[in-house]
Amino acid sequence: MQEKIEGIKAKYLEQILEASELKRLDELFLELFGKSGEITLFPKEFPNLAKEELRVVAPLFSQTKTELESLIEQRRKEIREEAYGKLDSETMDLSKQIEVKERKGHLHPITKFEKDIADLFAKLGFQQFDSTQIDSDFNNFEVLNIPAEHPARDLWDTLYVDQNYSGGKLLLRTHTSNSQIHVMKEFAPPLREMIIGRCFRYENLDARHEHTFDQFEIVYIDKGLSMANLQYLSEYFLKHMFGSDIAVRLKPGYYPFTEPSAGIQGQCIFCKGEGCKICGNLGWLELAGAGMMHPQVLRNGGIDPEEYSGIAWGVGPGRMAMLKYGVTDLRDFLSGDLKFLEEIDK
Ligand code: PHE
Repeated sequence: MQEKIEGIKAKYLEQILEASELKRLDELFLELFGKSGEITLFPKEFPNLAKEELRVVAPLFSQTKTELESLIEQRRKEIREEAYGKLDSETMDLSKQIEVKERKGHLHPITKFEKDIADLFAKLGFQQFDSTQIDSDFNNFEVLNIPAEHPARDLWDTLYVDQNYSGGKLLLRTHTSNSQIHVMKEFAPPLREMIIGRCFRYENLDARHEHTFDQFEIVYIDKGLSMANLQYLSEYFLKHMFGSDIAVRLKPGYYPFTEPSAGIQGQCIFCKGEGCKICGNLGWLELAGAGMMHPQVLRNGGIDPEEYSGIAWGVGPGRMAMLKYGVTDLRDFLSGDLKFLEEIDK
């Protein structure tokens, strides 16, 4: 029995001294003192021993037990101290320069699109005109032949900012066509202006409607302009955007401030005119609205319609960008979702 005790001692002594982690010590402790540990089970054999033997074995056992226990405790302490010592000697250099990976930003896809359109029309001599986003009911509607209570107001769901403003109701412009009057007041014809900017509508939001969106508009006033010029501008624009093989047509439309009015349609770029889900089986997509400026609108701007004619032409760059990038939900553009924007930028 004595040898057995010595054997246990020898076996564990070395392992305890070599342990370098607290976890390892816990394991050794369990092997010795756990429920079925070697030390725990050992005294079970005592009843079988002769008295003389027990007199020698019992003290040796309890001494060994204490020794092993305190050795484990001591080694625990040492390991903890080593760890703290390491912390003490560790220093942190706060002046160290960390290399930060540069992350390049990029223009928003709609901004890019607008820059593209602006460059395109700048080549034809159009200059950029900046107009207000908050404007009067008068400039946004009345000068464009849309008096209060006119049914055409239903086309533009409006957000009013101030219903009782002294100069007439104030609203968030529903389209860039509010700029037409500002352009005519600012410049004398002949003039070629383009307006890019935010517009707002009180909309039921869905994949194709946002309350906040951009429009791009052309105001072109000169002697002798006709629908032929309008067709040219439309083709010039769509062929540049979607490739020279796109067919373009004007479809009669209605706007109170243009006469005649037209929807500019491009042959569906997805089905090439065959008819698909995106074009509603029509084979054509309505891509812009336009028309010859109404004589009364010109008159409102102090321009004689007998002498001059005007072309007004507008698109929603958001809708165009949807087609160009194959985006199915307009709302994604303003969602601030970087993953979406980076995907498009690839
Ligand atoms: N302002 C019109 C709209 O928002 C578009 C348009 C612009 C129509 C210029 C004709 C001429 O729907």
